[in-house]
Amino acid sequence: MPLVSMNEFLPKAKANKFAVGQFNMNNLEFAQAITEAAIAEKSPFIFGVSEGAIKYMGLEYTVAIAKAAADKSGLPIALHLDHGSTFEVAMQCIRAGFSSVMFDGSHHSFEDNIRLTKEVVRAAHAMGVSVEGELGTIGGVEDDISVDAEHANLAKPEEAIRFYEETGVDALAIAVGTAHGMYSGEPNIHFDIIEEVASKIPVPVVLHGGSGVPDDAIRKSIQAGVGKINVNTENQVACTNAIREVLAKDAKVYDPRKYLTPARNAMVEVVREKIRLFGSNNQA
Ligand code: 13P
Repeated sequence: MPLVSMNEFLPKAKANKFAVGQFNMNNLEFAQAITEAAIAEKSPFIFGVSEGAIKYMGLEYTVAIAKAAADKSGLPIALHLDHGSTFEVAMQCIRAGFSSVMFDGSHHSFEDNIRLTKEVVRAAHAMGVSVEGELGTIGGVEDDISVDAEHANLAKPEEAIRFYEETGVDALAIAVGTAHGMYSGEPNIHFDIIEEVASKIPVPVVLHGGSGVPDDAIRKSIQAGVGKINVNTENQVACTNAIREVLAKDAKVYDPRKYLTPARNAMVEVVREKIRLFGSNNQA
């Protein structure tokens, strides 16, 4: 099956109150683990790839790996640029074979964010590619971008609704109290904001910073209208912990397959659990 746009599954997710996971791909082992988990759970999913991850893997390898996963699995898989910073980066990705892009204009003024996102939507939709926009700033660290809690602004519902109406995005990420990375305490998620926005726009709300969010809060946010949830850090932690464990037990190991196989298996478990929690199992 070819890579698909998020519109292959997000409308159904919103209507039937489940969420599709965006699992970030950082290398081949991440891609294999995510795909293996999704095959076992018969779930659609989204490969999220940040600009930093593209720089690390190379654009051509990224697309080739995602295409191989879609061909091999037969599952509806979207290859999605995560937090695209410019129109040019979004277009480069689309030209290379991405089926979906996020344009993150949240660091611009509200009016500029609308204007820039609209340009990306116009070009992407002409090519059948879905677009996610962002409003408000999500805290935490992702790639080289760090936003402290003080500067993480919650989205204003009336602005979010206007943003949707003017841009026509296919999914809308709004800052509701989650952050990228692990939490030191419990995140304070503003379910009322999710509900107010989701009830007034036809597309799902996206929850960034899905790692470390308690299961109950995830379920509540899906009920409130979240249809896409992003997870990266939990897989990174599972991967690195498994590698540390192997290396700590055996100082002589040198074959990467000896520590990457348990790392990959650990990520399969994380992703299977998230898919079941999000309710996207058996939805492929
Ligand atoms: P976490 O790393 O906190 O899971 O967040 C991932 C994310 O939101 C990617 O955009």
